[in-house]
Amino acid sequence: MVLLEGAELGETRTRVRLEPFAHQVGGHTSMLHYDETTLCKPLFSQEQVFYESLPADMKPFTPQYRGLISVYVEKDSSGHISLVACPQNDNESPAQESPMATKRTQQRAKTPCAAEHKPAREGPLLDRTCNDSRSSVCGTGKGKRDASFHMKDPNGNESATPERSSHNPWGLHCHRAQLMRMSSDSKDNEPYRFLLLENVASTFQLPCILDLKMGTRQHGEDASEEKKRRHMKKCEQSTSSSLGLRLGGMQVYQATTGHFLCRNKYDGRTLTAEGFRQALYQYLHDGHQLKRELLQPVLQRLSALRAVIERQGSYRFYSSSLLLIYEGKKHSPGRHPFSAPPRVDVRMIDFAHTSYRGATPAYEGPDRGYIFGVENLINMLQEIKDGD
Ligand SMILES: Nc1ncnc2c1ncn2[C@@H]1O[C@H](COP(=O)(O)OP(=O)(O)OP(=O)(O)O)[C@@H](O)[C@H]1O
Ligand SMILES: [Mg+2]
Repeated sequence: MVLLEGAELGETRTRVRLEPFAHQVGGHTSMLHYDETTLCKPLFSQEQVFYESLPADMKPFTPQYRGLISVYVEKDSSGHISLVACPQNDNESPAQESPMATKRTQQRAKTPCAAEHKPAREGPLLDRTCNDSRSSVCGTGKGKRDASFHMKDPNGNESATPERSSHNPWGLHCHRAQLMRMSSDSKDNEPYRFLLLENVASTFQLPCILDLKMGTRQHGEDASEEKKRRHMKKCEQSTSSSLGLRLGGMQVYQATTGHFLCRNKYDGRTLTAEGFRQALYQYLHDGHQLKRELLQPVLQRLSALRAVIERQGSYRFYSSSLLLIYEGKKHSPGRHPFSAPPRVDVRMIDFAHTSYRGATPAYEGPDRGYIFGVENLINMLQEIKDGD
């Protein structure tokens, strides 16, 4: 978090400059780093309603919901764009949903934070973090940037001239696109609404993350006919239809090279079932060896998740993801003389198109497409565990 002080009216106020989250592996919107344990994400009202009516037994499997916040687009005197949140103003006035959201409130917020905006002298430029991913700006505050990121090409080969960065390249790609959207959409300092969510990777030093798009159907009830057709085609042509799973992004720390190996959603869409299985294997491999010790804890958590989803009648988690996370940093043997079980996490994210209890149309029973995906994942991990 970068704290900024507002000085006018003799008052000291906290504003938070939002930076791109270093470990965003998938999605299309930019996840922004708010504080050490909190991210923010453009608001989709359906996702807010989901979090606010979340069944208690799903809470251990979802990020904690931490409310809403107003976010302003700011340009400095040289035209660089950054995003700034004003926590204390949040409840004072309505604000617009993000340009990616389907519905937008029209009222303008007149807040002291908005009054601080400087007039732009040039057309929109990207903020410095994006323009130079190697600059020191990238490493502010988080203290966990001791590994860079390398891309894999669609065949799984590392690119010949890998882009070195302290941020996941997919996350930076999303951030650039979102800044462009927000700056061209921003109306006279009107703030955007963002969700505050627990950063489920924050307790990991070198988080190895797998984003799996779950289920056999991706389009939500709100999708236009054209969008529905597009999503159905992507499902038919990928492992979504055959496995109820699709790789939405991945980063895995390689002990051999000291960097993260990354794959993105475009790569994920091209995988066959066998390619998907290999990607899963790669996610569990540190370059030296398969991390077998992860398998049992992940399998246990997936079984618990399956039981919880079985109980969620009428929910449909269209286009949501499952995040698998484990620690890529090797613990020093001195501090752990006896081998402790590795820390792993499994969380559901992205509920912008989830259909919940009370919504129309009403669905009966649990989400079978989702459970199909969880079961296939369990089976594949079990095969990896039993194999070799
Ligand atoms: N709570 C969280 N903690 C840590 N990382 C997160 C969290 N939520 C999202 N992410 C990261 O951000 C990425 C995108 O998140 P999410 O799927 O919510 O965004 P989206 O843009 O709505 O996705 P989509 O394109 O599928 O609609 C994930 O792949 C993950 O890497
Ligand atoms: Mg997503």
